[in-house]
Amino acid sequence: MNLAVEIAGIRLKNPLLAASGTFGYGVEYEDILDLSLLGGIVSKGLYMEPRDGAPTPRIVETPSGLLNAIGLQGIGIHAFVGDVLPRLRKHDTALLVNVCGDTVEEYAEVARVCDGAAGIAGLEVNISCPNVKKGGLAFGCDPRMTHEVVSAVRRATRLPVIPKLSPNVTDITVFARAAEEAGADALSCINTLLGLAVDVEARRPRLGFGTGGLSGPAIRPIAVRMAWQAARAVRIPVIGIGGISCASDALEFLIAGCRAVQIGTANFVDPGVHERVLAGLRDYLERHRLDDVNSVVGTLEYPGLPRPCDVPGTAGERGGCA
Ligand SMILES: Cc1cc2nc3c(=O)[nH]c(=O)nc-3n(C[C@H](O)[C@H](O)[C@H](O)COP(=O)(O)O)c2cc1C
Repeated sequence: MNLAVEIAGIRLKNPLLAASGTFGYGVEYEDILDLSLLGGIVSKGLYMEPRDGAPTPRIVETPSGLLNAIGLQGIGIHAFVGDVLPRLRKHDTALLVNVCGDTVEEYAEVARVCDGAAGIAGLEVNISCPNVKKGGLAFGCDPRMTHEVVSAVRRATRLPVIPKLSPNVTDITVFARAAEEAGADALSCINTLLGLAVDVEARRPRLGFGTGGLSGPAIRPIAVRMAWQAARAVRIPVIGIGGISCASDALEFLIAGCRAVQIGTANFVDPGVHERVLAGLRDYLERHRLDDVNSVVGTLEYPGLPRPCDVPGTAGERGGCA
């Protein structure tokens, strides 16, 4: 049975990656699970310099979800490359860096540092973090800025470039196409949804930053819809993210057209989630008499329902729907 997939020239032994910010830098999980079980690991977001992140509290639980405003706390790209990467590359799994920047130039600079580092398989470009005052969402909610950041990163590296798109937009296909035109090799869909939790006694936001990003099972139908729209809009592969905690959740994204998926919030609930989802994928393929996980990708049957180009805000500009 083949579980291997290829994304932007990166061979993953299976289609499951650990999502950025929910798996530390990977090494924190070394003693808890066998990292070589994973198709890949996406690092916590990294800037040029270390960052303290947002004021506490940073996490609020919501029904079937998590609202976070970590504010991209991190050790900076040089510490990652110098201290963490040598430990991490001993594990047989694909390593992706989540690239951040306050400016377009900073994104390119981080990419340039990664370009020279052995063991990095690709760059996920974070233009969708809702929890920072500069950069982040500002780049991911303006298609011209998306194009500019992705072009700059593209010019700075030979590594595969994978912009991570925001769900906090009306029409994700516009951003998917802008990223593709700027030279992206694949897309990650989606980051968290902007939310607000209120402490009714104090009449203040419950998070130190004010608003936060919603993740977990609560967002999955939105994530599947947006990943499906993006996959229909571009030729490059899409990695689906949002609310995956079991094999059938992962299969929803694959069937909707994603070539791989990332697991985020579920890591906090069950560090063994990857192993469990992998076993469930194998079981699904066996039950459906399939010998290759790639054969389920994009097999969504959609008879008599509105096609993506008929759904408001998703005009099929590439010659309409097939
Ligand atoms: C605590 C926390 C920290 C996160 N940090 C990052 C980050 O540094 N960079 C990034 O691109 N996404 C970050 N994300 C977003 C996740 O990678 C993922 O896109 C999102 O949580 C949806 O997936 P999930 O529902 O499986 O968690 C973070 C999410 C959480 C919950």
